Amino acid sequence: MVKRKPIIIDTDPGIDDAVAIAIALFSEELDVRLITTVSGNVDVDKTTNNALKLLKFFNKKIPVAKGANAPLIREATNASNVHGESGMDGYDFEEGDMSNLLKENAVNAMYHTIMTSDEPLTLVPIGPLTNIALLLKVYPEVKSNIEQIVLMGGSTSRGNKGVLSEFNIHFDPEAAKIVFSAGLPIVMVGLDVGSKALVYPEDSDKIRGFNRTGEMIYSLFQHYRGIGLKKGLKMYDSCAIGYLLKPEMFTVVDSYVDVELTGTLTSGATIVDLKGYLKKPANAKVCIDIDEEMFRKWFMEALQKCN
Ligand code: BDR
Ligand code: CA
Repeated sequence: MVKRKPIIIDTDPGIDDAVAIAIALFSEELDVRLITTVSGNVDVDKTTNNALKLLKFFNKKIPVAKGANAPLIREATNASNVHGESGMDGYDFEEGDMSNLLKENAVNAMYHTIMTSDEPLTLVPIGPLTNIALLLKVYPEVKSNIEQIVLMGGSTSRGNKGVLSEFNIHFDPEAAKIVFSAGLPIVMVGLDVGSKALVYPEDSDKIRGFNRTGEMIYSLFQHYRGIGLKKGLKMYDSCAIGYLLKPEMFTVVDSYVDVELTGTLTSGATIVDLKGYLKKPANAKVCIDIDEEMFRKWFMEALQKCN
């Protein structure tokens, strides 16, 4: 039997988050110990409800802890124009099971889960980094039992929320800066790969026929408003899970990454110093490319394993 890799998913579901969570929960190689929620695509009450609804749908008993309801310093924005008002528009979910919701908040729940784990845990943030930054500031001792942080966020070039800023980093740049400067092994799975991890209409039709999860995801896809299903829906968050399960899909380089906080036009941009201008040691592995066909095959196979 394969040894399962213990992970914590920090998330703001979110249609592409829902897909990533499905893949992680049905993977035989991952052991999802905790799901923490954060404001991002929609506010944290909604993302928490959505996480609970997903677990009910999947019939999985995983603890959920609610996290930050706003960025560290800035005003919250959202992405309900992409994911719908609820954050997961398009499917009529049953209400979640409140017994999965922990009384403690996300930061304390992560702390306890990490400190009581018999082996180092991997954190997989697929939303803004507010909870992770708070965790690292309040409980720096967790660093000794974190294997790595594999985060969906950032870009080596253009943005999808600002000219140069990706949504998760743009939402809470101060938090992102804290995370990138924490001295932990970090993998940045950003727009360079997320924008190429596409699902086309013909894939979506096949997904619908796989199983009940496929049917649910198909319905969500009808409401996922990016550039539209025809040109391909972007499976950003699944890339972070994909990195854990099939890293050979990615081209990865070691680089120094910082986050722009004060730029008048560029706040929230990840400054990925691929050419070493800043003369700083690398603090992240940055995914700069993805084998699109390999991703497509992996993604379809992963969804076939869900039920
Ligand atoms: C990221 O922003 C959110 O809208 C998605 O869920 C993903 O985590 C992509 O920029
Ligand atoms: Ca997300």
